[in-house]
Formats: sequence, structure tokens, C-alpha cells
Amino acid sequence: MNPLQQWRAFQDKSLYYQAVKADGEESCWREIARQYDQLVYPQHQQRALLARLLPRLDGVSSAIEIGAGSGTLTMPLARQFRRMTAVEPSPSMAEVLQGNLVQQRLGHVTIIRQRWEEAQLPPADAVIAGGCLYVFYEIEAALRKMREAARSTVLLTHVGNEGLWDIDLRAQELLAAPKPCLFPPLPLLMDVLTSLRIPATVELFYVTTTKRFTEEQWLKRCQRLFAVRPEQQPLLLDFLRQELHQEHGCWTVTEDVPATIVELRREN
Ligand SMILES: C[S@@+](CC[C@H](N)C(=O)[O-])C[C@H]1O[C@@H](n2cnc3c(N)ncnc32)[C@H](O)[C@@H]1O
Repeated sequence: MNPLQQWRAFQDKSLYYQAVKADGEESCWREIARQYDQLVYPQHQQRALLARLLPRLDGVSSAIEIGAGSGTLTMPLARQFRRMTAVEPSPSMAEVLQGNLVQQRLGHVTIIRQRWEEAQLPPADAVIAGGCLYVFYEIEAALRKMREAARSTVLLTHVGNEGLWDIDLRAQELLAAPKPCLFPPLPLLMDVLTSLRIPATVELFYVTTTKRFTEEQWLKRCQRLFAVRPEQQPLLLDFLRQELHQEHGCWTVTEDVPATIVELRREN
């Protein structure tokens, strides 16, 4: 199998891509779009990523952001640019993003409510895809389009390559579950880039993330990732109670997870 076929084979098994394929993940975003940052993207994580991202955007005055979500990166990045286009197909996410942009008076950001594959946009200095490569099945076409749309740089970011790190691994061992396929792993992306002869630089670093879910949300997440059997539920609950820190009705965990910025360069 060549790397492009391997990418599609991974996506065929990926829990996250299956949700994209089913309904563009809308059933998930409908539930959590308003709480996305609180649940998935705490401020200390955002700050750590921005500190690595912003120096790479020096001199950039226009940008396209793919998969902008609720605007976690859009809003701090928009302050750097004269013009910004946020591509976001999910109606729930786009609605939250629109509200956030109005509240923060970022009128120079345009939301395109389409998938990247269909969006027809004029080029910009930079194209940024934050944590969203997992939505693409035809990765070659998506990357080619990003390179064509970017006058100077394409930045692909990802935090927590495979979800949480320690706690997921221990839960998986406890439940004797197979490793779930979530985001396409970094080595696979590297193989894809190499096979397409795309020059790139990779920065690998570690950021502290905090996940703050209710008990019900933790159980739902574990159920989805590890297909927990009914007789394993008490074991899982004991484990979560032991491992997680309880705070204001939520169960939280803080971990250092790997993060990457892959920059696709223009020159050979
Ligand atoms: C995990 S979220 C990432 C949000 C944000 N960029 C971040 O870093 O937190 C992935 C986003 O990609 C969007 N998305 C899904 N399919 C897409 C597609 N084909 N083109 C562009 N965006 C897509 C989803 O609706 C979702 O908002």
C-alpha cells in the first residue's frame, strides 16, 4: 500500500473520520460547540500553541483558516492580519464562531460555511489548518489545494496526536481494549508528504492540556473509544474516580501531550 492508500485505510478505521463521514460530525458539534474551548481547548493550551505559531506568521497580512471551529485560533490570529477567511462547514460551530467574531469586533474575518474541498477562494499569504487534517479522506487533493491557495506558507497544527496520552493508555490496558484509531498519526502524514514530494519542516513539542468533562461525558467518551462492555462499567468508574480530579461538578485531568506544527514550504 502506498502512503495515500494507507491514509484512506486509516480513515476507514478512524472513529473520528467515521463521525465526519456520517454527518460532518454535526451531531457532536451540536452538543458541544458552545463549550468547545472549555471542554477541548483550554487557554493554557491555546497560549502554548500560539507562542509557536505566531513567529511563523511574521509579515503575513491575509490568511485562510480551515476548520476554524468556534474560533479558538481564529480570534487571536485575526488580530495579526488585515484580512482573514475562516472555512467552517458545521452550522453549530459557524454560529458560535459568528457570535464570537461579533463580540470581539473582528469584522474583517469572513466565514465560508463550506467544506474545504468545495470552497472557492482567492489565494492568501498563509493557509492554516488547525487540528483538522482528520476530516480529509482524499488527503492529496486537500494538501494540493492548500498549497495552491497559499502565497507564502501552509501551517498544519495538531495538539495531542492521539487524544489524551497517559490516561487513555491506562484505560485501554485496564479494559483490554484495542488501540482506537483517532487522528492520522504524524509518521503517516510524513509518509504522505514524502510520497507527494512536498518539502516540510516539523516542530514537535509538548503542551499541557486539561480536559474537564462531567462524569457522563467521560463515560460516553470511554464508551466510544474502548467499546466498554456492561460488566466493565464498575471497573471503569472506579478507575476514573481514582485518576481524575473532581472540581465544580466536573472531573478533570491535566496532561502534557505532544503537539506538532508542520510547515509546508514553497521551495524545493
Ligand atoms: C477538531 S475541530 C478543530 C477546530 C479548531 N481549528 C481547533 O483547533 O480547535 C475540526 C473542525 O473542522 C471542521 N471541518 C469538518 N470537515 C471539514 C472540511 N471538510 N473542511 C473544513 N473544515 C471541516 C469541523 O466542523 C470542526 O469545526
